[in-house]
Amino acid sequence: MHNLLSTDDVDAFPEFLKTAAAFKKNPYTEETLGRRKTLVLLFFNPSLRTRVSTQKAAYNLGMNVILLNVSQAWGIEFEDGTVMNLDTAEHVREAAAVISQYADLIGIRTFPGLKDRALDYQDRVLQQFARYTTVPIVNMESATVHPLQGLTDVFTIEAHKRIARPKVVLSWAPHPRALPQAVANSFLAAAGRMDYELVLTHPPGYALSEQFSRYATIEHDQQKAFAGADFIYAKNWSSYESYGEILSTDPKWMITAEKMQSTNKAKFMHCLPVRRNVVVEDAVLDSPASLVIEQAANRTVIAQTVLSKLLKSPTGCNN
Ligand code: CP
Repeated sequence: MHNLLSTDDVDAFPEFLKTAAAFKKNPYTEETLGRRKTLVLLFFNPSLRTRVSTQKAAYNLGMNVILLNVSQAWGIEFEDGTVMNLDTAEHVREAAAVISQYADLIGIRTFPGLKDRALDYQDRVLQQFARYTTVPIVNMESATVHPLQGLTDVFTIEAHKRIARPKVVLSWAPHPRALPQAVANSFLAAAGRMDYELVLTHPPGYALSEQFSRYATIEHDQQKAFAGADFIYAKNWSSYESYGEILSTDPKWMITAEKMQSTNKAKFMHCLPVRRNVVVEDAVLDSPASLVIEQAANRTVIAQTVLSKLLKSPTGCNN
């Protein structure tokens, strides 16, 4: 692995999940691997889980961590050939090259603008950093994908599945704000590589990019989708078709205890943060079926697995 830009950068899934399981059992087996190595984390957008779990993962490997909220740095320009006489003070070509002088690995979080689909789906901030840094990049959620979350979700399902081929349902749920498609996209990309009966359910107008939805069977009737499910993964996303728009806030799509009754005693999953009694009822979130806190805990395990692999990559760090 040279970078973690998407879940596709993990070539051997079974081996990756096995390494993660070993780190979960004992987080300190490689506590000197990252000695004298530095991880720089760039946050263009807010985070709780990714920020803390990635830092914790780096500490477990003996790394140093420098965390930068990019709003506190110079405004970065991503366009080539621009006359930089407005707000941006530093071009990504210099910024990325300079950070590479201090870092052995770089993590980046950058959300989409949700105005221009073509621009967002270029994932320009992530791709420009990947182009101009000289050290590996870890995607900590970009405009279009959230691989650390998708890998965590599959790892969590593997730990809880009771049958060889579980029915796994990704359900759209309402939300008052326009949210990115990144979590849903990476969940489908990661789960699509497993032997799951993968079902996607959403209201009209909420189809995801075919690049990701192709991994699942689409069932527009949420009740039918839930029947016999082993895992219900709830997530809101804004429209991909009418890009960035909120087309519905219909509370009928909220995950309720009543709906969970039609499942095969399904486990409930969400990446967090979650809006209680908008996305999911308290009765589900607070039930023993909820895996959301374990998912958050597993973020450390997956981040550690990724960092370990990048530290060992012969084409990776400043060795
Ligand atoms: N799930 C997730 O990525 O959480 P944060 O936005 O808090 O990092």
